[in-house]
Amino acid sequence: MPDRLGLAPGVRLNGRRVVVVGGGARALAAAAAALDADAQVLVVAPRCTSGLVGLAAAGRVVWRERAYQEEDLADAWLVVAATEHPALDAAVLADAQLRGVPSAVASPGWSVDTGVARAGPGVGRVVLVGAGPGDPGLVTVRGRQELDAADVVIVDHLAPLGLLVELRPGVEVIDAAKVPRGPGLAQREINELLVDRARRGLRVVRLKGGDPFVFGRGMEEVQACQDAGIPVEVVPGVSSAIAVPGLAGIPVTHRGMVQAFCVVSGHIAPDDPSSTIDWAALAASGATLVVLMGVATMSAIAERLIAAGLGGSTPVACVQRGASPAQAVHRSTLEQIGTDISRTGIRPPAVFVIGQVVDAATLRDTSPPPTSPPPTSPPPTSPEAPCAPNVRPTRSSSATSPSTTSVAH
Ligand SMILES: C[S@@+](CC[C@H](N)C(=O)[O-])C[C@H]1O[C@@H](n2cnc3c(N)ncnc32)[C@H](O)[C@@H]1O
Repeated sequence: MPDRLGLAPGVRLNGRRVVVVGGGARALAAAAAALDADAQVLVVAPRCTSGLVGLAAAGRVVWRERAYQEEDLADAWLVVAATEHPALDAAVLADAQLRGVPSAVASPGWSVDTGVARAGPGVGRVVLVGAGPGDPGLVTVRGRQELDAADVVIVDHLAPLGLLVELRPGVEVIDAAKVPRGPGLAQREINELLVDRARRGLRVVRLKGGDPFVFGRGMEEVQACQDAGIPVEVVPGVSSAIAVPGLAGIPVTHRGMVQAFCVVSGHIAPDDPSSTIDWAALAASGATLVVLMGVATMSAIAERLIAAGLGGSTPVACVQRGASPAQAVHRSTLEQIGTDISRTGIRPPAVFVIGQVVDAATLRDTSPPPTSPPPTSPPPTSPEAPCAPNVRPTRSSSATSPSTTSVAH
């Protein structure tokens, strides 16, 4: 997908001159996109919108405050005709063509192929794209743009794999899944792949679940690229730490109830000598605790929190496979969750939420009514009964008790 200037995302114009002819809203959009790409921008127009006037006053664009003249195209690397007068736009394009300068009319959906948008040999780059918790709809616009421009995609097992079907033909896809406590590429091998493909002049997207910098080893990959002299960028993603509870209708904060939340890795058990987490401080913090990678250790975590003074009746929710059709929510308490995990066979990936916000989950299910005949069972007794997600297709049984209600299978 081209951006507003028809340049592949992340392309830097490094001071090349973009001439924008016109002073209206389309000219403003073109100038802004050119500035984003680090261009030197010349605007030619007798009058400009306040946005362009502001850019000129700040010295970010040069404004020739007069009607367009052919000589304005001198030294242009790209010309954008944005006068919104078809005849004048056509004249600008014709002048640009005579000079051999790429040009485009700024109209809805416009773009121009500048011929330098794609990386050439020796100038590859790596972009770490946070792709959200699993639903392809939760990747950012920028993330999609990077995928559209990619030559190589190196993908994690928790990234939304549905995005891969939309890649251009010929894109190399490398499965770098690291299954928890299971097989997969070592981090060193992934780092080597990133550097190797970029050195071949390719645009490499490292597609990661959630956000690359939330327990995602993103910085290790950034450092590996930097050490190898490879240009590297990060596109933040929607982290499962917030989004997965949210999709289950559980807010991590709630005014009047809790003023902080803390995201914790459960990868290392509290009694493991290499654990650096102060569980007692967390127990006393009053914050919502969000635990990732905690299926194997949650029983020990709960015991430690209770020993540190957190009430055994503190509500706990476990959201499995969030942002997927298999999303399931299990509600429990701190003293019960360990038993529930072994009894119900909860499996990763799962996010645990510990705190009163679990009971604040009163989002009503607003998904469309089923097309099949209505069930014969009686309706819930109260419209306020806690319900599981109103976003995903899983439905809660009516959880009147916060204890071991298992829902949504
Ligand atoms: C290695 S961490 C990566 C987190 C990721 N970088 C993020 O920001 O979401 C993997 C853990 O994230 C959580 N997780 C990621 N996606 C999930 C999903 N769709 N449903 C439930 N938990 C998820 C689980 O706790 C899983 O064990």
